[in-house]
Amino acid sequence: MTKQCLYEQILPQIQSLVAGETDLIANMANVAAVLHETFGFWWTGFYLVKSGEKNEKQLVLGPFQGPIACTRIPFGKGVCGTTWQRKETIVVPDVEQFPGHIACSSLSRSEIVVPVARNNEIIAVLDIDSKQLNTFDETDKIYLEKIVALFA
Ligand code: SME
Repeated sequence: MTKQCLYEQILPQIQSLVAGETDLIANMANVAAVLHETFGFWWTGFYLVKSGEKNEKQLVLGPFQGPIACTRIPFGKGVCGTTWQRKETIVVPDVEQFPGHIACSSLSRSEIVVPVARNNEIIAVLDIDSKQLNTFDETDKIYLEKIVALFA
């Protein structure tokens, strides 16, 4: 089955999951689970924008599936912090070619990070890692942006 078919299949499932529940963390947990199970990604999860000790905003690990990961990422750092800064999806075909990439797992080879916006503000990012190079493309970007738009 093509990637597009799989996304088309899970989209209504995710829509009804999210429509029936108002808790953001619960919804993020289920979205991470559906994506991870459907595609067999290496790591699938969310980082949420939160205030740190000195009140500076940073990304803090949220609901995820996969191996343990870095817990905090500063604004503008790594693929996740850069996505937050640019407010746009970043597709990384080869993590070694992305300057400043944060390697939570040495097995991760490619990555996509999608910003989650609410009221024109970035509140989180969805981060997905693959053990293969070149896993993510425009199809992933389109559908993952549709999925995170459900959190708006
Ligand atoms: N690679 C990410 C860090 C998060 S882990 O991949 C789960 C980054 O460069 O921001």
